[in-house]
Amino acid sequence: PQQGPFRGQHIVITAGPTREPIDPVRYLSNHSSGKMGYALAAQARRLGARVTLVSGPTQLAAPEGVQRVDVESAEEMLEAVQAAVTDADVFIACAAVADYRLATVAEQKIKKSADRTQLELVRNPDILATVATSDNAPLCIGFAAETQEVAHYAEDKLKRKKLAMIAANDVSDSSIGFNSDANAMTLFWHDAQGQLQQKDLPRAAKSHIAEAILRQLAQLQSHTRAS
Ligand code: PMT
Repeated sequence: PQQGPFRGQHIVITAGPTREPIDPVRYLSNHSSGKMGYALAAQARRLGARVTLVSGPTQLAAPEGVQRVDVESAEEMLEAVQAAVTDADVFIACAAVADYRLATVAEQKIKKSADRTQLELVRNPDILATVATSDNAPLCIGFAAETQEVAHYAEDKLKRKKLAMIAANDVSDSSIGFNSDANAMTLFWHDAQGQLQQKDLPRAAKSHIAEAILRQLAQLQSHTRAS
């Protein structure tokens, strides 16, 4: 049996980009490689959890012992996450979900004609907000990619989105974050007295950052249980 602080727990993690189809051969997406989410999945497993990794399209192999569910669009990701979180203790939203999808997906390849054309986009569901505000919500961790006033936004998001922790990515340095093997972030959470706490995780391999996030989560869980 697995040992570690998450033994007996089910942790659901989203990773990678989503792909929003335009027509049968085209889509909207972003540069997320999935590396950060996969590193979290591997470390959560190593620390004893049963792990479901809901993954957008990536080049990565599923970490050993982790159950991967493959999805493409944000709507598919939401559906897979909702199915997986029914018995989850923790939900970690690491995916770079497209905020918008096409209002209508063309059934045939769109032909070029006019010099200018437009795509109509509609908002995608917010997967993290949907899970965090649902009945019997698991403990939720969100990622944030802010460039300024990080602490202010983090505190607001913790409250508004009902999150246990926010991992704020340092996006001012393009050599980390999206697609890189390294990352740097600041974690924000509220202590038992409701005070905002923060911890800087300086630049390190994503596997190391993932372990630090999960160790902080385990500590938070032990406080929550004690109070
Ligand atoms: O995949 P890598 O190449 O390793 O890169 C990792 C990363 C930079 C993508 C990752 O560390 C990261 O920061 N992921 C979240 C990026 C993001 O899209 O942030 P956001 O500000 O758009 O979203 C905020 C939070 O809400 C995130 O937890 C996101 O997963 C979640 N969200 C957003 C939109 C949406 N429709 N549903 C969501 O669940």
